[in-house]
Amino acid sequence: MSKTMQSVQQTGTGGAETLYIGTSPKPLVKPTEVLIKVHFAGLNRADILQRQGKYPPPKGASNILGLEVSGTVVQVGRKVTNLTIGTRVMALLAGGGQAEFVAVDYRLVMPIPAPLNLTQAAALPEVFLTAYQALFFEGNTPKASRVLIHAGGSGVGTAAIQLAKAAQCTVFTTSSAGKIPACQHLGADVCIDYTSENFASVIAEHTKGKGVNLILDFIGAPYFAQNLQCLAMDGLLLMISVMGGVKLTETNLYPLLSKRLKLQGTTLRARSILYKEALINKFMEDIFPLFEQGKIHPVIDTVLDWHQIAEAHRYMEANKNTGKIILKISDP
Ligand SMILES: NC(=O)c1ccc[n+]([C@@H]2O[C@H](COP(=O)([O-])OP(=O)(O)OC[C@H]3O[C@@H](n4cnc5c(N)ncnc54)[C@H](OP(=O)(O)O)[C@@H]3O)[C@@H](O)[C@H]2O)c1
Repeated sequence: MSKTMQSVQQTGTGGAETLYIGTSPKPLVKPTEVLIKVHFAGLNRADILQRQGKYPPPKGASNILGLEVSGTVVQVGRKVTNLTIGTRVMALLAGGGQAEFVAVDYRLVMPIPAPLNLTQAAALPEVFLTAYQALFFEGNTPKASRVLIHAGGSGVGTAAIQLAKAAQCTVFTTSSAGKIPACQHLGADVCIDYTSENFASVIAEHTKGKGVNLILDFIGAPYFAQNLQCLAMDGLLLMISVMGGVKLTETNLYPLLSKRLKLQGTTLRARSILYKEALINKFMEDIFPLFEQGKIHPVIDTVLDWHQIAEAHRYMEANKNTGKIILKISDP
């Protein structure tokens, strides 16, 4: 068996032009890992940040880009008892997915829910687990809450809308105008075009001034004051990214006190395997039935051959995707 494989490589940190498909060592499989022959890999915003040198992989993770894959198990570590060669799976990764092969701990490998094909399976792990983690595992959102999901047309946003609607929440979204039909189609109740509307005013109007119980925020500093403004009493601002910036200026913090608000940040990639295992097990228990019944699905914008990796990055960086961009790596 060859000791090398093809993978996404970089000439150095920088723009999309630094990306190419090159040769790298095939991963060695540890006793608690399996080796997956990758068929499809999801592209995530984190890949762009890592490419730019702004988001290095956690200690011990592969330097190769790629946080989620679907594929076939081709080798099983000696301590793994629940997976066999030839099984089709999907997996959550801390890196290494945009390659012909990836080694991953067996606890981060999931079966593929029945109605989903391998392309859809590669669009699921990172964004659905992030959305589930934020809304329920960390956010403890009660059923029928009022929830504001920023970047509603993002990969994570399209997953979060569906999960929140499945929990009978009233869902508000923000996005650019072109992504509003997709948010509506996924069930969002009130879709706000952030380029032309003040989301706090729209929410005040629709909730008769009560506000929302939870905000899933990816934007950060530019939205902070408006976020505090539109949270209900005892509401939670859950931050999972800062795409719009990190520095606050002249923000009135008084609503944090007067409305007894909570502010929390969370990440997924750098968490321990034990945390991710607990998250995945709860996700499979709570959410897999919804995929199996066809009630929710990964939203895919585009599938590209992985040799078009630079084009895929440029497309995402230009905010053109609604839902996921998937890279085809090998035939199933
Ligand atoms: N904390 C975690 O563990 C975790 C895990 C996964 C992802 N994330 C983060 O979640 C975010 C979404 O990831 P993704 O892969 O789903 O992204 P994505 O599909 O690339 O979507 C991002 C969208 O956000 C909107 N956007 C970008 N900059 C904006 C700004 N300054 N103001 C308002 N909207 C903006 C754009 O849509 P419009 O056309 O609507 O502007 C863009 O298409 C990323 O920031 C990612 O890093 C965090």
